Amino acid sequence: PEKAMAAMARQAPESLAELNRLIQRSEPLVPGATQAVLGEGPEGAAIAIVGEQPGDQEDREGRPFVGPAGQLLTAALEEAGIDRSGLYLTNAVKHFKFVQRGKRRIHQSPTAGEVKHYRWWLMTELGFVRPRLVVALGATAALALSGRPISVLRERGPRAFDGWDGFVTVHPSYLLRLPGDEERRRAQAEFVADLRRAAALA
Ligand code: URA
Repeated sequence: PEKAMAAMARQAPESLAELNRLIQRSEPLVPGATQAVLGEGPEGAAIAIVGEQPGDQEDREGRPFVGPAGQLLTAALEEAGIDRSGLYLTNAVKHFKFVQRGKRRIHQSPTAGEVKHYRWWLMTELGFVRPRLVVALGATAALALSGRPISVLRERGPRAFDGWDGFVTVHPSYLLRLPGDEERRRAQAEFVADLRRAAALA
């Protein structure tokens, strides 16, 4: 990975568009993934939101946060009074990692090594976007941004990441998986409150 990082640094893209071309040309994590899913949103956005990796639908459409978790995020942003189109949305890992089970492609969490492999790209990307605040959705994003394992439930809230003012909150997929309706509603309300609080910091 160190060698790969050094090789990437030598690529030295001079713009976000150039960086994105390098990412698009890179190998997917799993053969059969459709495409790299790039970040989306204006350079200079006050807030960047970082997820884990594209899901099945994101991989097909080539856009971040368009599947079920993305729809939950979009609804939570709306409820928090935040305009999604003003944000920069991206992922720690740019390719969908999955195992094929019949017709279904089942999401696989990236390993710490895989997160590290993509980290230089993420940091370079943020360097072009220059947000005032970076929001990590879940542990993988928090690991990518801080370079160390982070317990979301213990370290939820404002956090300094490697050179960035940050904010740690849960991943929307976690909210989708909560079993009880009551528990899910409460956790979703806390997620909306986190987004509001983050927006006030940016
Ligand atoms: N969709 C994304 O683009 N990222 C995630 O982390 C989850 C769903």
